[in-house]
Amino acid sequence: MIIAIDGPAGAGKSTISQRLAARLGFVRLDTGALYRAVGLAATRAQIAADDESGLHSLVAELALRFDAEGRIWLGEEDVSEAIRTPAMSAAASRYAAAPAVRAGLLDLQRRLARQADSILDGRDIGTVVCPDADVKIFLTASVAERARRRHAELAAKGPAPSLQEVAADIEARDKADRERPIAPLRQADDAVVVDATSLSIDEVVARCAALVDAAR
Ligand code: CDP
Repeated sequence: MIIAIDGPAGAGKSTISQRLAARLGFVRLDTGALYRAVGLAATRAQIAADDESGLHSLVAELALRFDAEGRIWLGEEDVSEAIRTPAMSAAASRYAAAPAVRAGLLDLQRRLARQADSILDGRDIGTVVCPDADVKIFLTASVAERARRRHAELAAKGPAPSLQEVAADIEARDKADRERPIAPLRQADDAVVVDATSLSIDEVVARCAALVDAAR
């Protein structure tokens, strides 16, 4: 069984996917982490976002993998923390628009999804990566609420940008993700919208679990 959870930045896809996976005994595949890791590697290698051949080679050679705890590795380096900065959010979105990056990660995502009952969260899971997913959820929330949550998440780790800056980053990234020509952020026609603005995490998980139960 495959569950697709798509939605804009900071809607809570990570938390909900983790909880849902634990509850159902599914494997969770954080596709945003893949784009973030590519963004990190491309930034370090100083490859321009429009350098298609450079990005093609980079993605082909990257030893990207998730371990059993869901941490993400680039070769011998655990990059799980390094990819979570505001700079890497922006880099992920910039490089995610490149055809070479999207094509390179598409096969990997489909291969991983075939290995077990899976929950994939991202932007184009229900539309492009797994159009035949058994359950499609489009998780969203107001910009103000998403910015508040992302700001709290960053502030818990150390010095964080202001709430206004976080909101501006989220809006800019959503716009770029929605307007890119390939695999833009969009709700699949057969996805169910879950608006988390005024719901607790438990309430969102319960709603998603009910959608999964109905599909089984
Ligand atoms: O956690 P957050 O919602 O802020 O972002 P993420 O899911 O980690 O994704 C980071 C960026 O990767 C997004 O802004 C997208 O540009 C890109 N992405 C994508 O293009 N397609 C996916 N399936 C997942 C992420």
